[in-house]
Amino acid sequence: MFFTLLLQVIWILAAFGDEHWTYEGPHGQDHWPASFPECGGSAQSPINIQTSSVTFDSELPALQPHGYDQPGTKLLELHNNGHTVQLSLPPTLYLEGLPQKYVAVQLHLHWGQKGSLMGSEHQINSKAAAAELHIVHYDSDSYDSLSEAAKSPQGLAVLGILIEVGETENPAYEHILSHLHEIRYKVRSPPGQMTSVPPFSVKELLPPVLAQYFRYNGSLTTPPCYQSVLWTVFSQKVQISKEQLEKLQETLFSTEKEPSQSLVQNYRVLQPLNQRTVLASFNQDESSYTTGEMLSLGLGILIGSVCLLLVVYFITKKIQKKKSRNEKSVGFTSAHATVE
Ligand SMILES: *[C@@H]1O[C@H](CO)[C@@H](O)[C@H](O)[C@H]1NC(C)=O
Repeated sequence: MFFTLLLQVIWILAAFGDEHWTYEGPHGQDHWPASFPECGGSAQSPINIQTSSVTFDSELPALQPHGYDQPGTKLLELHNNGHTVQLSLPPTLYLEGLPQKYVAVQLHLHWGQKGSLMGSEHQINSKAAAAELHIVHYDSDSYDSLSEAAKSPQGLAVLGILIEVGETENPAYEHILSHLHEIRYKVRSPPGQMTSVPPFSVKELLPPVLAQYFRYNGSLTTPPCYQSVLWTVFSQKVQISKEQLEKLQETLFSTEKEPSQSLVQNYRVLQPLNQRTVLASFNQDESSYTTGEMLSLGLGILIGSVCLLLVVYFITKKIQKKKSRNEKSVGFTSAHATVE
């Protein structure tokens, strides 16, 4: 009897004690540092990426995802952990182009309130996107497991992909979103209420240009906020349809059952950059032109070149004319001279 009671108390403590956190309310983000000290650290994520203040680093190579486009045959597990929707990834997916080899573990999403177009965690020039995808990896050369790596500097590498609303449905994201209705309620710990997703090319979730990204040292954006993440936030955004965003915002609950609470607005507020450097793999000035600007620039250069050519042509012609006139007169004078 006593032991059963004790076990129950331990179970309740484990479930609702320090482990319990939310985005708002009495266990909301302002209170995270009280239970999770690292959340009050000086190298936290997410951040606002101010492109005028980033440092261009020509040594940063294009990121190379391996196995991302080879879905394999195993089903992928998708579950609602009350904070987000999370898809487990096999270790056949890994990243090169970072200081170490990082293998994939899981991916999950962050989004805003119903109808909101601001739900990303990272911002670029103080502008939030509608949602954000995080693909979590750990340094498998140096550590045996995710939990071990998660506590060590640069133990983790997370890819951040900003998501905006576009005209058409994104079929890659539909591989995840079409299953949300199967996992509407939270499960405490897997394996619980889970669903299986047929394997698909995770590469399609990434933006087309992988060579343009921002890199900085930061943290997990949820408790325990370990400052162990080497962040890569892609400059290019991906697009999903308005209907897809609504599905993400309206399907899930953060609770196990009644009374149910919508799982929305699961993003952390911006954290101070402090003394950190944000690197850019690309030169802002060269790539920040739009197609229109590019066209007018090209046209400007063309017209300028034609004008310059014309000027040079006429000047040369004039010089030649003058020269031949001079030559004639010289011939004349010399002829004159001989005659003399
Ligand atoms: C991250 O921190 C490590 C170790 O302090 C440092 O060597 C590296 O240059 C930092 N990376 C960035 C992008 O600031």
